[in-house]
Amino acid sequence: MADGEKVGAEAFLPERLSLPRMREAAAGCRGCHLHQHATQTVFGEGRRSALLMLVGEMPGDREDLAGRPFVGPAGRELDKALEAVGIDRREVYVTNVVKHFKFEERGKRRIHQTPKRPEIDACRPWLDSEIEVVHPRALVLLGATAAKAIFGSSFTLSRHRGETLPAELAPIVTATIHPSAILRAPSEARQRERQGFTNDLRAVARALAQTA
Ligand code: URA
Ligand code: SF4
Repeated sequence: MADGEKVGAEAFLPERLSLPRMREAAAGCRGCHLHQHATQTVFGEGRRSALLMLVGEMPGDREDLAGRPFVGPAGRELDKALEAVGIDRREVYVTNVVKHFKFEERGKRRIHQTPKRPEIDACRPWLDSEIEVVHPRALVLLGATAAKAIFGSSFTLSRHRGETLPAELAPIVTATIHPSAILRAPSEARQRERQGFTNDLRAVARALAQTA
């Protein structure tokens, strides 16, 4: 399949949606060119009954190898924040807008490349199917890529971070920074970023508690 060819994940969706069937079908997805170089599809993980869904950008190097979302350094930041606000990760559905790792090889290292609009659009049916099946009460977009995927490219995190956003996808929809932004922050700012991220998740936990 040539780069840029418009195919998309739609053709790979199972006829009847269920998380096990979707995961199995996504493993064979060739909806865009990203499957060619990645190790495997990294599908979302969690229970169908999860009240909270977290949506990241795309699996990273570690996730690509493990086949599971948020198991690398960004995942550790996420786990810390969830623990700090008393959310059990096993109760959360964790996924990404793009399911294959996109990277550039530099020597032995694989450097993350931000997915582009055609890849995000190609992969979108998987995220939509996850939202449909899990039907979360709160949907939290982690970082600008995830937020722009849902709200369009004019969405700016700096303006709308932490707001309850108007969207029909879930009763509560909000966007915050990506946990990898904590790791990228200069060391003197890192703790502040970590605190801000944790506070945003705490607000979601509270909002969820109020709707219980
Ligand atoms: N970054 C993401 O956006 N998703 C992952 O699963 C890991 C790192
Ligand atoms: Fe399919 Fe998404 Fe992977 Fe592209 S990135 S091949 S659309 S699962």
